Parts: sequence; structure tokens; C-alpha cells
Amino acid sequence: MTLVQSIETLIDEMSLEEKAGQLTCLPAARSRATAAAANPDQVELNETEQADAVRKGLVGSLFNGSNAGWHRRMQQIAVGESRLGIPLLFGADVIHGFETIFPVPLGEAASFDPALAERTARAAAIEASAAGLAWNFAPMVDVARDARWGRGVEGAGEDVLVGERFAAARVRGFQGRGDLSEATAMAATPKHFVGYGACIAGLDYNSVDLSERTLRETYFPPFEAGFAAGAAATMAAFNDVAGVPAHANPWLLRTVLRDEMGFDGLVVSDFTGDLELIFHGVAVDGADAARVALLGGVDMSMASGLYMAHLPALVRSGAVPESVVDAAVSRVLQLKHKLGLFDDPHRRTDKPATVDHTAHRALAREAARKSVVMLHNDGILPLAGGQRIALIGPFGEGPGNLHGPWVLFADAAKAIDLASGLRAALGNASLDVVRGCDPEGPIEGGIAAAVAAANDADVIILAVGESEAMSGEAQSRVDIGLPAAQQALADAIAATSKPIVTLLTTGRALVLGEAVARSNAILVNWFLGSEAGHALADILTGAHGPSGRLPISFPVATGQSPFYYDRKRSGRPPETLIDGEQFKTRYREMLNRAAYPFGHGLTYGEIIYLTLDLSHDELASGGTLEICATLENRGTREASELVQLYIHDRVASITPPLCQLKDWRHVTLAPGASCQVSFTLSPDQLCFVGRDCRWTTEPGLFDLWVGPSSEAGLTTSFTLLPG
Ligand code: BGC
Repeated sequence: MTLVQSIETLIDEMSLEEKAGQLTCLPAARSRATAAAANPDQVELNETEQADAVRKGLVGSLFNGSNAGWHRRMQQIAVGESRLGIPLLFGADVIHGFETIFPVPLGEAASFDPALAERTARAAAIEASAAGLAWNFAPMVDVARDARWGRGVEGAGEDVLVGERFAAARVRGFQGRGDLSEATAMAATPKHFVGYGACIAGLDYNSVDLSERTLRETYFPPFEAGFAAGAAATMAAFNDVAGVPAHANPWLLRTVLRDEMGFDGLVVSDFTGDLELIFHGVAVDGADAARVALLGGVDMSMASGLYMAHLPALVRSGAVPESVVDAAVSRVLQLKHKLGLFDDPHRRTDKPATVDHTAHRALAREAARKSVVMLHNDGILPLAGGQRIALIGPFGEGPGNLHGPWVLFADAAKAIDLASGLRAALGNASLDVVRGCDPEGPIEGGIAAAVAAANDADVIILAVGESEAMSGEAQSRVDIGLPAAQQALADAIAATSKPIVTLLTTGRALVLGEAVARSNAILVNWFLGSEAGHALADILTGAHGPSGRLPISFPVATGQSPFYYDRKRSGRPPETLIDGEQFKTRYREMLNRAAYPFGHGLTYGEIIYLTLDLSHDELASGGTLEICATLENRGTREASELVQLYIHDRVASITPPLCQLKDWRHVTLAPGASCQVSFTLSPDQLCFVGRDCRWTTEPGLFDLWVGPSSEAGLTTSFTLLPG
């Protein structure tokens, strides 16, 4: 019997209640996860009730438990005591680590190193699968272009190509390159399908109103990359898209996802996303919401219990065809089969992978180092030895605010803070640590103590930014500047006129006030995870040079949001800054420019781009263009440069963006060394979504540049010939 036949036979034996059970995912009764607090409408069963529901076949999946013992017990009941013995599927949000925490995904994207992301995702899956978890609600692949939105921290930033490469890498990492049935493999879930990052005004859960062109060109591709890498599941987004909620959207979940993208995996609701159809105003009650969601294409209901409660009656009344239920059940059972759960339901808990925590910590330190972005340095970094250092600010010391907002299971006390990292690196050097203020409020006497420490020091490390609580889900901000208490601290420290190195702990782009912007050096350290302090000390002391680049633009003011580098030029572009210039695409107060552009990031070397050559000045359809740039390190220290290739289409039938990233290369140059960096460009990299909403290329003139950011580099042009 083939797999499909045996699954069909099993489905034939199932009651409607058991079918609804397979389509139901409920929170694990033993869980450290905190999502429940934020999502009060979930169905919560106590341990006895949960065991009973599993025994009756009324639930097929449990989520956000981390307790291997509980997972084993529930699995024993499912397999040994339920009528059909169908194994349970244990899922969880293992976004950037389980016990060992790697940098937040946005930070890791700053490495521009998808292979690194694959390795950290693999390590996360090895740790999580040992607790029985076989399904990961990650990676988040939502393109995030509005810094007010708090969930940008979970993804790869604003760019489509970066989003695609990191989506594919993380899927490969979570699932492993072998078979999904391997004990350390977890099914990956690119989420949230789709457009979630484009919520109006950056307000989480808010409406999304994107054109079909933009969906296809910007928001679909990272999902397609994740699916092409083999992702076994996806999750519907909370938002509506042009008036139709993603949880009730057959065009998105059936026509696009199934028919066009060919995705045959599992679609799960985002938490109570099916129930929320009532609040969206497209369903009258729970039963109606279950009907609309299932018909819309949501196979499995998470947390609300609506499918469990209503699907049997909906089928009996004829409101939902049983064939639709069966198709969804079949996808669940296929996933369980692929994960090896039918062959050996206890594989992940009984024979857990040997977890090499030491290797994972080393990887966490490497990933953290590679995620740090140096925005500015007047030469103060790396720190000279023997200086008296004052470490000031709410993020210098203590176990909080190292992991980031999406860590459910790890022990924060095991993470290394900056003070510990510096002490380990600098030995007995003088380090005075003063908090100064809390992330969102003053401390009595805090500023005075900080100023006193600053006055006694040779150099100040000012650790400011956002707490973990200020980004992530439901943490939209109307002002992406530093909170007032921290701004006051920064102003007071700046007034000491001492040299300042500012470190920015953050899950989003920040707007930097005067005091911070005038620092002698500025580093973005995001939330770096378990090895944060060691990694930062590595960079500050010069043991390793900074190599990260911004995967998001840093705007000058919040009012520019959404702000991203590949925006359109408009019919009134402001070519130059002319005082009082009117009727141009600018604000009264300023040009619409970045404080720090996408792709920006400095090294301890001094990289000069010397030459840029093309193999031809014409590119034939079916041909390729060889691009070669020469770089030299004129600095006195080794430098890891990220060489970026951008193009700009001069004239097309759709308004072209200012520029678009097409490829990148990492090179490391010793002081005084030079090298050549080559790219190959082909016409398919010049595609865009045309007026008919299909991908196309159009012949014509293209500008091209190779450089250190989206706003710098050597420029040339070429012509794409007609096909
Ligand atoms: C989030 C999802 C997450 C789910 C389960 C929701 O609130 O939007 O990203 O996977 O909770 O924890």
C-alpha cells in the first residue's frame, strides 16, 4: 500500500470528532511559554483534561511545551491508549535557539551570511528536538519595512533577496539536509502568510492593503524560497489583505499558495487567528469562523479549539464538505509520517541527539560577533589597552535584555552580559559599571552617579537602546527614538565631553538623537543571545573586527516610516539639498534620506573601491555579464568587507525602485592588500512584476554599482538587449 493509500484508509476509519482532533493544536499543559498571557482566548486544558482529550483523539498536536517527560507521556497515551493510535505532533516557537540562544534573526541577518543562519538553526533544532519537538513555528520571513512594527526583530529585515536567502537557509537548518524523519529534524514553518509586516502605520495586527504587484514582488518571494528549500508547513497571518483576512482568503491560501506555488504542506492558523475572524467582522460566531477558516485554506486550528468544537457539526449540517476536512487531515497525517512519528513516535525523546552545548556556545559567540554593525568610528575603536572604562546604561549589566523578545525556553541567567564579557577580556582593567536609568524610566540619582563615573573614566561605553519588552509581538512604537529617560542619560554623558562608544541594544531601526549621533563610535548590537557579552568584548577590544551590515535602513526621523532603500523615486525627486526647495518629494524639515542606509557597516580597516569593469556593455537575453571590482585595504588592520552589487533600471513599464540588491560577496583583506571581486549577472536577475502581475524583463539601460552600501560605490551602466 502506498503512503497516500494507507493515509486514506486511516482517514476512512476516523470519526468526524477524530478528524477535527487531528486539525487541532492546543497549548501543552506543561509549558514555560508565555504566549498565553498575550493571547487570552486560547483553550487551556489542565494536565488531566489534556491527557483525556489525547486519549479520545480530540487533539492531534500540542504546542509550546518544552518538557520532554510530558511530551513522552502524552505520546504514550496517543499511541497506546487512543482508538487509532495516531501519534501527536509537538510544535513550538524555536525562533533563534532553544537552550543556547543565537542573535535575534534580524541581528543575524546583519551577518549577510545565510550559511551561518543555517548552522544556528541546525543547532536550535538539535536542542529542541531532544525535548520531543518536531515542528518549529519558524522562520519568520515577513519582509519588514516599517521600524514602528515590533516584529521586524524576528525576520531578516527589509530586503527581498536577503529575505529569500535567509528563509531558505533557516528552513534547511531547522529541517536538516537529510530526511525529515531524522531525530534532530524539525518541520519548518515560514510565516506569516502573508503581508504581515506591511500593517498600516506599523501597528501590529492592523490591516494590510498591498497591491497584487507588491505582494508578488516583495512579500511572496521569501516564502517561495522557504518552500523551495522544502519547508513542510506555513502559518496564516493575523492581518487582512485588501479587506480579506489571511485566515479566510482562498485566493491567498489556495490559488496562490497551492495552485501557483505548488505548496503541499500544512497550513496552521496563527494562534487564535480563526477565532479572530469574528473580530475582523467576517464571521458571526465560532462555528462560522471555523467554517470560513477551513474553507479559506487553514488546515489546522491553533489554540482556539474552534475546529474541535465545530467541525463535526459543520460537516453533518452540510456547511463544510467532508472532503475538505479529509484533505486537511491528510496533510497533517502526511507531515506526521514524514517526521517519522508513525514509525517511531518516541524517536526524538527516547534517543535524543547528543547536544554539544560547548560547540553551540562557540557558535553563538561567532554568530553574535558577525551580527554587530559598526555605524561610525572616529578611530576610538578598537579600545586602547589600559584605559579606565565607565560602562554606563541600562544594558551594561544583568541577565535581562540579552536574549530578545522571542525566547520562550532558555534560562536568561546563562547569558553573558557586557560587563562580564569585558571583565573576561580585559582582566583587571578598570571597569566601573553604572546603570544610570532603566530602559523606560529614571532611577533616583542614576544620572548623577553615571556622570561621576564618566568624569573618572578615560572612555565611556554607553549601552542604551530598547529592552526586550519594547520589540516583538504587539510592541509597535509611535516614536522609534530612545525613551526619554535614556535620552536624558545620553545627553548628560555627552555633556561630560569624554570619548563615548555607544552600543545600541535594539530589535528595530532606531532614530538617534544628537547626543548619540555625536558619539565617537556607534555599534548596533541588537539582542545577541547567550554569548552577547563575550562577542561584544571581542569586537570592542579588536580581537575581532566588526563585519555586520544593516539589513534595515535607519531613518532620520520616525515620521519617514515606512522607510526602505529600494523605494520608488517619484516624479518629483529631490536631486540635491537646496534650502527652501519646494514641490519635491521631501519633508518640510529634511530630505527623505537615511541616517544610516541599508547595507552600511564599517570595519577596522579602510576599504577603498578602486575599479569597476564589465565584461560587456550589453547583456543579451540568455547571456551573462561578468562584473569585476578591485578593492584595497588602506587601513592598518584586517577588514572583512561585504561587497554589494546593486542595479537600477532606468526606464520600465513599472516605476523602477531607486536600486535593488542583486548579490553580495564577503572578502577579508589584510592591511595593504587588494583583491578582485567578481559577480555574474544574468537577465533573470533583472526581472520585475509587470503590469499584468507576471514576472518579466524589459530591455533597456541599467545602472549598476558595486560598493559598501546601498548608497555608495562605483557606478557604471549596461544595456539589456531585447530577447
Ligand atoms: C505569533 C506566532 C506564534 C504563535 C504561537 C502568535 O502570537 O504571532 O508567530 O508562532 O503565537 O506561539
